[in-house]
Amino acid sequence: MTHLRLGVNIDHVATVRNARGGIYPDPLRAARLAQESGADGITAHLREDRRHISDADIEGLMQVLTVPLNFEMAATDEMQAIALRHKPHAVCLVPEKREERTTEGGLEVAREENKLAHFIAPLREAGCRVSIFIAADRAQIEAAHRIGAEVIELHTGAYCDSFAEGRFEDSARELERLREMSGLADSLGLEVHAGHGLTYDTVTPIAAFPEVKELNIGHFLIGEAIFLGLKPAIIEMRRLMDAARA
Ligand code: PXP
Repeated sequence: MTHLRLGVNIDHVATVRNARGGIYPDPLRAARLAQESGADGITAHLREDRRHISDADIEGLMQVLTVPLNFEMAATDEMQAIALRHKPHAVCLVPEKREERTTEGGLEVAREENKLAHFIAPLREAGCRVSIFIAADRAQIEAAHRIGAEVIELHTGAYCDSFAEGRFEDSARELERLREMSGLADSLGLEVHAGHGLTYDTVTPIAAFPEVKELNIGHFLIGEAIFLGLKPAIIEMRRLMDAARA
């Protein structure tokens, strides 16, 4: 099977930094260490309210990274202008609501097809690989395909949350949906990524889907880094992904 890429999301290094408003811990240092530990890419979400990653972090990441930056952003004019200025390897469009704690659902592509098609066209012309973060839902996948996205990232939150809460029938059902929808997306020619809420306990079945080419994982890894250190935390995730793939 093809190599499964690991994108390490460093947002929550910035969350800890911003809790004190200083310069420690430095998300750029985390990104460099993640690269050295086997991350194939770095993911960072510049939120409208700048609650974690800042504009300067994105600037710094573009300068120091040797692996691709996956720039997560909402589909707004402000973010589009920032993406066009930096031209990161990939742009992942995510829904964003100010009041939410994290990205709670996938993007509603089906209802906003025209608007999103116009939104992503200049990003694609600038050479960014455009990915859309969506629920494992047929209508959303087909709409993502129609608007010209090259990549979809399937939201694994419902699968991971139900697993964490011990609702194993629900998590098995969510996993089955993710499996089926990965196959559908792949058959349409979309590259399939997945992420949100993944842990050592939930990564294996997702990593085993042959259609999935990249996982983006953040919160759990940054949390594990408190206990293990960032490098061993990433190495263990990498080991589980490779074992699932073998
Ligand atoms: N992928 C996308 C599109 C996301 O928005 C997030 C969270 O910012 C992640 C992956 C990573 O999720 P987590 O931090 O729960 O691993």
